[in-house]
Amino acid sequence: MVHIKLKNVNKIFQPDVQVLNDINLEIKDKEFMVLVGPSGCGKSTCLNIIAGLEYVTDGKVFFDDADVTYLPPKERKVAMVFQSYALYPHMNVRENMGFALKLSKIDKKEINRRVEEAAKLLGISELLDRKPGELSGGQRQRVALGRSIVRNPTVFLFDEPLSNLDAKLRIQMRGEIIKLQRKLQITQVYVTHDQVEAMSMADRISILFEGKFQQIGTPSEVYNKPANKFVAGFIGSPSMNFWDASFNATKIIFGVQEYQLPSELAQKLDDERVEEMILGIRPEHIKITPTAHDNSYEVELTVVEFLGAETIVTFEFPDGISGMISAPGFYESKMGDKSYISFPSEKIHIFNKETEINLIHKY
Ligand SMILES: Nc1ncnc2c1ncn2[C@@H]1O[C@H](COP(=O)(O)OP(=O)(O)O)[C@@H](O)[C@H]1O
Ligand SMILES: [Mg+2]
Repeated sequence: MVHIKLKNVNKIFQPDVQVLNDINLEIKDKEFMVLVGPSGCGKSTCLNIIAGLEYVTDGKVFFDDADVTYLPPKERKVAMVFQSYALYPHMNVRENMGFALKLSKIDKKEINRRVEEAAKLLGISELLDRKPGELSGGQRQRVALGRSIVRNPTVFLFDEPLSNLDAKLRIQMRGEIIKLQRKLQITQVYVTHDQVEAMSMADRISILFEGKFQQIGTPSEVYNKPANKFVAGFIGSPSMNFWDASFNATKIIFGVQEYQLPSELAQKLDDERVEEMILGIRPEHIKITPTAHDNSYEVELTVVEFLGAETIVTFEFPDGISGMISAPGFYESKMGDKSYISFPSEKIHIFNKETEINLIHKY
C-alpha cells in the first residue's frame, strides 16, 4: 500500500537547467500511472526522484504520509526496471533473479521459493537454468521483471522498459505488464516517450513538457478533452490538425473557409473575448465522402495511403491550407480527386492562440 505524492518539486541541474518546475503529482495506491513526454523533458529525472536515485532541488516527496524526500533508495522498497536489463551473463536465470536477496542474506529456501513463484507468474519457470545469452529479448526483459518482483517491492518503477524490443514483442510485453499489475496490486509508475504505450497501459497519464505537467488524466480525458494544444498534438496519431483561425459573431474563419458554430459554442467563445485562435480536429473525426454532404467543404486529395484498417488522406482546401484525415477501411480515391469533408461540432477543439489553452474543453 503506497500512495505517492510529489509536492512543489523543482529540479535544477547545474549550472541552471531547470528540468522540473514546481510540479505536483499524486499517484494513488495500486494505480498504474504513466509519465509521458518527448525525449529530454525530465521523465527519468522525475522517476529517479521517486526512487531516491536523484534528490529534489526544492519540494517534497511523500510515500503515504511519510516524508521520504531524502530517504535513500534502499529504504523506500521500490523496484526499478530499465530499458537495459543488465543481467549477469555468467549467472543463470535463477541466480540472476535471486542475487539481490542473496546479498541481503535471505535464507536460501526462501530465495528459491520467491524465485519460483515469480518465474511462474511470468511464465519463465522452464528457463531457470539457462544463462541470459540463451534467452530472447522478451525473455530477458521478463527475467529483469522477475528480479524486481522477488524483492516484494511496494512500488514498481519502469523507465522505458520496452524500448529495446521489436514492435511485435513490445505489444505482447505491454499486455503482460498490465496483467502483472492486476496480479501484483501495487503502485506502479511507468515512463515512456511513446503515447500509444501510455494510452494502452495507463490508469492515468501525466504529460510532462517544459518542466510542467501539461495535463494529468485518464486516457479518455487526455484524448477527448486535451487541456491545451501541446497535449492535443502529442496524444493521437496521426496528430490533430491545427489551423489558425479567428472568431466572427457565430463563425470560425480559417483561411477563406467559414465554420458555423452551434449557438452554445458561439456563446462560449463570445464570453472568452479571444481574437486569435487555433481550430483543431483529429484526422479520425473528419467525415469524408465522394459527393457533397451537409455543411461540407470541397477539398483536393493530395496523398492517399491505404494502410489496411484505415486510409490516411492528405487534402488541400482551395486556398491551399492542408490537413489529414484517417478514414476507416478503404476510402476509394486517388491523388488529385475531389472529395467533401465536414467537422462534427462535438469533435472540434478551439485553442487560444496565445496561451494555447483549450477554450471548449476546460481541464
Ligand atoms: N545529471 C544531470 N546533469 C545535468 N543535466 C541532466 C542530468 N540528468 C539529466 N539532465 C538533463 O535534464 C533533462 C531531462 O533529462 P531526463 O529526465 O533524462 O529526460 P527524459 O527521461 O524525459 O528523456 C535533459 O535535458 C538532460 O540533459
Ligand atoms: Mg529518460
